[in-house]
Amino acid sequence: MKLGIIGLGNWGRRVAEEANILLNEGVIDDLYLCDIDDSLLKKFKDNKTTNKTSELLSKVDAVHICSPNKFHFQNGKEALENNVHTLIEKPMTINQYDAFELLELALEKGLVLQVGHIFRFANVVKKLCEYYQNNEFGKVNYLNLEWTHYMEPLTNTNVVWDLAPHPIDILNFITSDWPVKIYGIAKCLRQNDFFEMAILQTTYKSDLNASIHISWANPIKRRRIELVGSKASAIVESVKQTFTIYRNDGSKEEIPVEKNNTIRDELVNFVDSIKTRKNANNSGVIGLRTVELIERAIMNLMVVQ
Ligand SMILES: NC(=O)c1ccc[n+]([C@@H]2O[C@H](COP(=O)([O-])OP(=O)(O)OC[C@H]3O[C@@H](n4cnc5c(N)ncnc54)[C@H](O)[C@@H]3O)[C@@H](O)[C@H]2O)c1
Repeated sequence: MKLGIIGLGNWGRRVAEEANILLNEGVIDDLYLCDIDDSLLKKFKDNKTTNKTSELLSKVDAVHICSPNKFHFQNGKEALENNVHTLIEKPMTINQYDAFELLELALEKGLVLQVGHIFRFANVVKKLCEYYQNNEFGKVNYLNLEWTHYMEPLTNTNVVWDLAPHPIDILNFITSDWPVKIYGIAKCLRQNDFFEMAILQTTYKSDLNASIHISWANPIKRRRIELVGSKASAIVESVKQTFTIYRNDGSKEEIPVEKNNTIRDELVNFVDSIKTRKNANNSGVIGLRTVELIERAIMNLMVVQ
C-alpha cells in the first residue's frame, strides 16, 4: 500500500511523522508527501516529496488530506477521480453539497472515503462509549463537552468549523444518534470577522440534550466530556486520557484506560479498511452528517457582543 499525505502544516507534519513510523514497520510499502510550500518539503528530506498534488496522486493507492478546510473538496475530488482511497481531515468539506458529491464519487468508484474524526480512535472515548452502551449510567440526563484552548484567531475559518466537528462527532459516537436541534450563541472576541467562542445546545429525539462549549480564547486547554446520569456520572479528560465515574452514593472510581496514539490508530484503520473494503468507524457518511449539523448550527446561532 502506497500512502500519500497532502499538506504538511501543523497537523500534516504530525501525520507524516506517524506515517514514517508505519513505513519503517512495513505497515505501508511506500510514502509520498506533498505541500505547495517547498520549505516544508525540505524538512522531510528522507521522503519522496512533491509540490504537485497531481504528481502525488499518480503514485499512491491512498491519501490523507491535511490541507486547509477550503481545499478538502478540491483535493478529495482529485484523489477519488484518480482512483485513490481518501481520508480527509475534519471538517470533511465546508458545505454539505461538496461532502455529498465526494460520497457519491467514492461509492461510484468503490473507494474508501473516511473523515479525520480522530477522537473515535481514543481508547478513553471508546471506553466511555462502551459504558454508555452498557447502560452503566442509567438514564443519561445530559452531557457537557468543552473543547477550548488559547491561540491567535484563524483568518480563514471560525471556531465552529474548527473545533465543533470533534464534540459533535463524539456525541454521535457515544449515543449512536444525531441531534434533531442545534442552536446557540457565538462571539467574535479579538477581531470582527470570525467567531472565536460559541456555546451550542443540542436536543435529541429522546429527551437527551448536550451542550458544547468551544473557544480559541480560553487559556485552559480542555478536551472534556461530562456526562450526568441517573445512576452515575462521568468525566473524561481526552488530553490526559482519564475516565472518572462518580456514583450517586458519593464514591468515585478511576476507570483504567490504556493511553493510545490516535493518529497512528486512525492511519492503521484507514489501511485496514482499504485492505478489507470495510469502511469502518469514520466513514464519509459521518463526515457529511457532521458538516450538515455545523451548517445548521451556524444558521441558528445568535451572535452576541
Ligand atoms: N484531527 C485533528 O484533531 C486536527 C487537528 C488540527 C488540524 N486538523 C485539520 O488539518 C487540516 C490542516 O490544519 P493545519 O493546522 O495543519 O493547517 P496549516 O495551515 O498549518 O497547514 C496546511 C498546509 O497545507 C498546505 N497546502 C495548502 N493548500 C495545499 C494544496 N492545494 N496542496 C498541498 N498542500 C497545500 C499549506 O502550505 C500548509 O502547509 C485542517 O483541515 C484542520 O482542520 C485536524
